[in-house]
Amino acid sequence: AHQWRGVIREYADRLPVTEATKVITLGEGGTPLVHAQKLSELTGSEVYLKVEGMNPTGSFKDRGMTMAMTAAVEAGAKAVVCASTGNTSASAAAYATAAGLKCAVLVPEGKISMGKLSQAIAHGATLLQVDGNFDNCLDIARKLGEAYPVFLVNSVNPARIQGQKTGAFEVVDSLGDAPDIHVLPVGNAGNITAYWKGYKEYSAPFETANGTLPAVSTKTPVMWGFQAAGAAPFVAGHPITEPDTIATAIRIGNPASWETAVAARDESGGLIEAVTDEEILDAHRWLSAKEGVFVEPGSAAGVAGLIKKHAAGEVPSGKTIVITVTGHGLKDPQWALRTEDGSDVQPVKVPNDVVTVAAELGLEEN
Ligand code: F0G
Repeated sequence: AHQWRGVIREYADRLPVTEATKVITLGEGGTPLVHAQKLSELTGSEVYLKVEGMNPTGSFKDRGMTMAMTAAVEAGAKAVVCASTGNTSASAAAYATAAGLKCAVLVPEGKISMGKLSQAIAHGATLLQVDGNFDNCLDIARKLGEAYPVFLVNSVNPARIQGQKTGAFEVVDSLGDAPDIHVLPVGNAGNITAYWKGYKEYSAPFETANGTLPAVSTKTPVMWGFQAAGAAPFVAGHPITEPDTIATAIRIGNPASWETAVAARDESGGLIEAVTDEEILDAHRWLSAKEGVFVEPGSAAGVAGLIKKHAAGEVPSGKTIVITVTGHGLKDPQWALRTEDGSDVQPVKVPNDVVTVAAELGLEEN
């Protein structure tokens, strides 16, 4: 049986690695492309979810981190650093462990989920909570990378984008061609940059050291990015100094990959729009309760966007639409326990007795 070897080995001929490269991997990629039945019924298009929560540390960041950590080892680094809203730090901490490197992570104080915090700690990273937001953390991380002996593994490192482009390859490999529309959340804008790069590379002949690979897809998709309304610099057209949203993963006001995200939007004929926190939580509930897919709130922004565009009559029917859901629901589980009126769900308590349990379930004996 074929064992998935991680994105570097699976797509080695399309990544800047050689046979000699010492690959740092935890078996990332190869994630499910799940047909979303209810979203398909809603829109009249075939909607699929690229479930990136199934990566080793529970988010899409692992695709980039295998490349970044491999590059760090190749460069002879002893320590890596990143700024993060949580998922990058979880991934960096795990991959640094696999590489035998020290890892320092900078996170905005009080604004990262418990699951992500505990991952960074569990993997032995040095975690510093900065009195500032993600954008401040990234500033410091970049300066550390420039002036101190630490290797920066944020997506400003091109190795990260190289790894993350494999998400697009997998979508095309599963569907047999590119989708018509690709939808995803946008925060620091590395992922929309990476998907667009991947789709473009797969739609044209690709030069490698061992010759030219033929095009795999016949087209590229339209890229639809969605930001949280309180953290939507691409919608505003300028950085936001005080970004705010319950979707802490995408609480970012000054995205590092600004130009490349705008290029992805414009070259593809796409858009980057905003969804409110309420729309994000509605989509989060939709995914859990109607599709059976549990994601963290930030990951539901793309689905929120699709539902919003559908309500506005702006989603075509008869198309193929892929939505990247970026991180696992267990990263930030407390949102599932919140009801629509804001109170917490209370589990029903029952005695240790089958008759009472059956009655509580509304079951009658056969
Ligand atoms: N979804 C999740 C779950 C994320 O963690 C992030 C980014 C995004 C979407 C947005 O992706 O930044 O490539 O546009 N998280 C980063 C982090 C910033 O530090 O974990 P993007």
